[in-house]
Amino acid sequence: MADQNATLTLPTGEVIELPVLRGSYGPDVIDVSGLLKAGFFTYDPGFMSTAATDSTITYIDGDEGVLLHRGYSIEDLAENSNYLETCYLLWYGELPSKMQKQEFVTSITRHTMLNESLAHFFDGFHHNAHPMAMMCGAVGALSAFYHDVMDIRSEHHREIAAHRLVAKMPTLAAMCYKHSIGQPFMYPRNDLSYAANFLYMMFGTPCEDYTVSPAVEEAMDRIFLLHADHEQNASTSTVRLAGSTGANPFACVSAGIGALWGPAHGGANEAVLRMLDEIGTVENIPMFIDKAKNPDDPFKLMGFGHRVYKNFDPRAKVMKASCDDVLAELGVKDPRLAVAMELEQIALSDPYFAERKLFPNVDFYSGIILSAIGIPTSMFTVIFAVSRTIGWISHWHEMISSPYKIGRPRQLYTGELPRPYRAK
Ligand code: CMC
Repeated sequence: MADQNATLTLPTGEVIELPVLRGSYGPDVIDVSGLLKAGFFTYDPGFMSTAATDSTITYIDGDEGVLLHRGYSIEDLAENSNYLETCYLLWYGELPSKMQKQEFVTSITRHTMLNESLAHFFDGFHHNAHPMAMMCGAVGALSAFYHDVMDIRSEHHREIAAHRLVAKMPTLAAMCYKHSIGQPFMYPRNDLSYAANFLYMMFGTPCEDYTVSPAVEEAMDRIFLLHADHEQNASTSTVRLAGSTGANPFACVSAGIGALWGPAHGGANEAVLRMLDEIGTVENIPMFIDKAKNPDDPFKLMGFGHRVYKNFDPRAKVMKASCDDVLAELGVKDPRLAVAMELEQIALSDPYFAERKLFPNVDFYSGIILSAIGIPTSMFTVIFAVSRTIGWISHWHEMISSPYKIGRPRQLYTGELPRPYRAK
């Protein structure tokens, strides 16, 4: 809805009116789509001040440290909901009734198994391939199984694809891990919760019973929940862009996994643990802080800073509390925790970080919890991908449900002028 305009004077002297679109909550945005008619594009590398879409799913106020899914705060959901209920909320827009929740959980549980021939795909991966590399390939391969039966214009087909993806991601993730350590794949178990089933497929073997501790199950569920969605981040925007071409959702999610992998995004949780290992002891922290502050050194404090949050990441607060609980419950004494806590204190009191509003983000703590529950570092980003699948697919669904155009950014060309071919 626009009841106000912004006025822009172009270099040609032409004055144009740009509608100001009102959000339901948070900042209004200037609709610049009409600029094209006047022969101009906008220039905003990194989308620093560009809204690529409107959305009803997730709201972030980076200055205040607020994250809402469908209007519910992340703290509220972490306290009172669980991952699958939050998935329902993200996809359908409302919390489920008891019956709806039961049906949803049953549907997800009954879709966890994979077509058996998918298991053979893993034979093609070298045993020490990074699990994220296998994940990109294996999730993309799902499109080979569900392509012909999928009409993305059908709401029902989109819903089935979403259920399949949410259900099968933990199975695939656990297979990536099992392949990397040379153990047999474990079939999913329908009597376990989403989180417990994932842990069972990760750590169980056919040789003996494996029981999942309730504390670990709860921590795992919370990690899934805290990563479920984060509005138009790099991987979600990748899924949307791929989806805007009409591509199959499994292929779109595979593209999202690729985007998530980088250390500036989902790869940060793995990078945090590697950094803590590299720092080693509390005495070495000042040296690493100096490195992070040196503009000529590419080193950054992993798990610090966020494009949107210029205040404490609300997910990090919940994760930190969870981290304390899990370590106490499991009696784990991880020396990296002492380094992490000291690093946090020093960084928070350092003017460099304060001036740039660099606070610990969700990934600063998630790695410590994951490592305490025995998850190897190379699986951290895979777990992020499992959690974020519902966010990716909900945004894809939201886009396809309304009129949309193929995503096609423009550019400012700064290359050669037209010139005739002359052999060198
Ligand atoms: N350590 C040291 N300096 C930093 C850091 C950091 N972690 N992050 C930003 N800066 C500095 C940066 O050098 C720049 O300084 P200056 O103004 O002097 O040039 C200033 O802070 C602004 O940084 P930026 O790179 O322009 O900020 P951005 O919004 O483009 O990048 C970020 C955000 C998350 C990519 C970046 O903060 C970063 O690389 N952090 C470490 C990686 C990380 O933890 N990523 C996980 C994000 S949370 C999970 C998710 O949602 O994906």
